[in-house]
Amino acid sequence: MNFDIDVFSSAISFSEQDVRSKTVVVIDVLRACSTIQTALENGSNGIIPLAEKDDAGRYTRFLDASGVLLCGEKKGKKVEGYQLGNSPLEYDRQTIENKTILFKTTNGTRAITRSSNAREILIGSFLNLTAVIDALKEFGRSDVLLICSGWNSRLSIEDMLCAGAIIYRLFDAKLPDDATDGVKVSFGLYEKFGNDARGLIESSNHAVRLREIGFGEDVVYCSEIDLFSSVPRMKDGVISIR
Ligand code: MLT
Repeated sequence: MNFDIDVFSSAISFSEQDVRSKTVVVIDVLRACSTIQTALENGSNGIIPLAEKDDAGRYTRFLDASGVLLCGEKKGKKVEGYQLGNSPLEYDRQTIENKTILFKTTNGTRAITRSSNAREILIGSFLNLTAVIDALKEFGRSDVLLICSGWNSRLSIEDMLCAGAIIYRLFDAKLPDDATDGVKVSFGLYEKFGNDARGLIESSNHAVRLREIGFGEDVVYCSEIDLFSSVPRMKDGVISIR
């Protein structure tokens, strides 16, 4: 199967036009996409990603407030007044089952909301790596964009590594002839470091930042490969696995 594929390196590195009618996989290994995956696996009804903090008000008015949690982070920490932050380990079944989550993070939900013109929006991380690859093969659609959320307009190596893993396996470990620069960089990164993904993730800039503020366990958790076999998808502004 042929895939026409490209990689973007941060939440602001692409335009609405770039994603129009494409199949997009948004990747934020540390931590938004890993948290979304975990929340849905533990029974959340759905996640509404917010671009801006003020967007929350637009939704809470229409939803049964008891079934809604406002969650997310600023500088990695829970925002004051929110019920949960962005640590996937907070999103256990007891806390989030049957809840709808309004979710605002610095880069991950920004990348997702900026992708809203895409034909399909999938959520990817190491936690569901094989499931994402299988879903892309199943779609059989050629226009695929892997959007790495990055961090504050910068590249994040753990997101690029995840993009590289997807490409490496979609193309049976052979760099496509017409590979773009983004594809070459992420493929090459995975080729070199894929056998020690955990080590590379642990040494990333964001892993260091997270450990500094007490979220070292999140880094360990988000480095797990294929913990889950579902692929969260966004439809009409809501991400779910149903
Ligand atoms: C983000 O969206 O910027 C990240 O998920 C930040 C974080 O680790 O909390």
